[in-house]
Amino acid sequence: MKLWGGRFTKETDQLVNNFNASISFDQKFYRQDIRGSIAHATMLGKQGIISEDESKKIVDGLNGILSDIESGKLEITDEYEDIHTFMEATLIERIGDTGKKLHTGRSRNDQVALDMRLYTRDEVLNVNQEVKELMEVILKIMKENTETYMPGFTHLQKAQPVTVAHHFGAYFEMFKRDRSRLHDIYERMNYCPLGAGALAGTTYPLDRELTASLLDFYGPTLNSMDSVSDRDYLIEFLNALSTIMMHLSRFSEEICIWNSNEYKFIELDDAYSTGSSIMPQKKNPDIAELVRGKTGRVYGALMSLLTTMKGIPLAYNKDMQEDKELSFDAIDTVKGCVSLFKGMIATMRFNPKRMEDSAKHGFTNATDAADYLVKKGVPFRDAHGIVGQLVLTCIEKGIALDDLTLDEYKAISPVFEQDIYDAISLKTCVEKRLTLGAPGPDVMKQVIEKYEGYLLND
Ligand code: ARG
Repeated sequence: MKLWGGRFTKETDQLVNNFNASISFDQKFYRQDIRGSIAHATMLGKQGIISEDESKKIVDGLNGILSDIESGKLEITDEYEDIHTFMEATLIERIGDTGKKLHTGRSRNDQVALDMRLYTRDEVLNVNQEVKELMEVILKIMKENTETYMPGFTHLQKAQPVTVAHHFGAYFEMFKRDRSRLHDIYERMNYCPLGAGALAGTTYPLDRELTASLLDFYGPTLNSMDSVSDRDYLIEFLNALSTIMMHLSRFSEEICIWNSNEYKFIELDDAYSTGSSIMPQKKNPDIAELVRGKTGRVYGALMSLLTTMKGIPLAYNKDMQEDKELSFDAIDTVKGCVSLFKGMIATMRFNPKRMEDSAKHGFTNATDAADYLVKKGVPFRDAHGIVGQLVLTCIEKGIALDDLTLDEYKAISPVFEQDIYDAISLKTCVEKRLTLGAPGPDVMKQVIEKYEGYLLND
């Protein structure tokens, strides 16, 4: 069964049918297709374009199809070109000629634009929820670790001491921006293309405001050519998904580093690790690696759609059918990754002793030693040089700044007194970092409070 064919004199080649068909993947939005058709049929009845009776018959028929698909009674099969064809054929089979009136004042172009938008809109909310749940886990870890010291890195070299709460807070911020991007996308995309027809609207007195509100849109779109050929919202969504993956991938990389034998900052739970078929000692961070790896696939979907769209003249062209498979894949991939990542970090254990030792032995307090001198009147540039010399001595001896004797300090600068040890202790170094956004536990607790409020309200 085809929705067209009247003007054709022979059957389409089977290979063409296969190449052209989209039902293998667009059946994914059968619910949205039915929902859109119900809104359209309801509106047709209200406007007197079809009778109220016919409208009701169609709506009942569509609801019947929906529940039969959901219960497994009705199977969507590949013999139809697309989900729209399947629905119309099934409806006509069930309710007879009245079913043929459903498509009055509608084209598959505005229908598919609507279906894809409805599907994407739901997924924007789903991804938003997944990310929120990940942030809840991050915040829990932050609360428990405001005084768990670790080295902060630049260039992957130990730089200054921070805390686990501070490090995880950085990711909280990233995911906060991700959610705000999703929010913006939702706001921009939430307008209804139904009623745009093939490209130029229709001559029927459609009530587009009504269908838009039945489908929970803010209102109808304002240009029918744009309505059927706009996929910006999807590109924006794929961009937001790519950014989420970029964040998860950086985080994954850190998990792999921290979980390595050399670092041992964390230990992943057995339930979130895998072994080797040959090396019995192995416990590998495969989940983190896979998340990092799948990032490429999501970027690929974004690049693919941008490229598909770049040469398409107005209005609808079949190229746009290519918006679906990779988008579906990207959306499912991101949801899977976020949720697994959440489980992985919720179950991993920190090794505070290793982290603290690492911070102590990496001269992460060198800046604080220089600041100590500055507070005693030494210009910063000179202080920097003095501490540099001290570090050199420590490297030669294989010790930390904390291990130098006062005499050794004084030999390089007489300004040093007994209080240097307290000034460069890890605790002091972190506690004194009290500017907003810094790791000092007092200011960190204020930030955590803000984050709690954010999760309650957004
Ligand atoms: N399967 C098509 C798509 O995904 C539906 C729209 C078909 N419209 C058309 N004029 N051929 O884009």
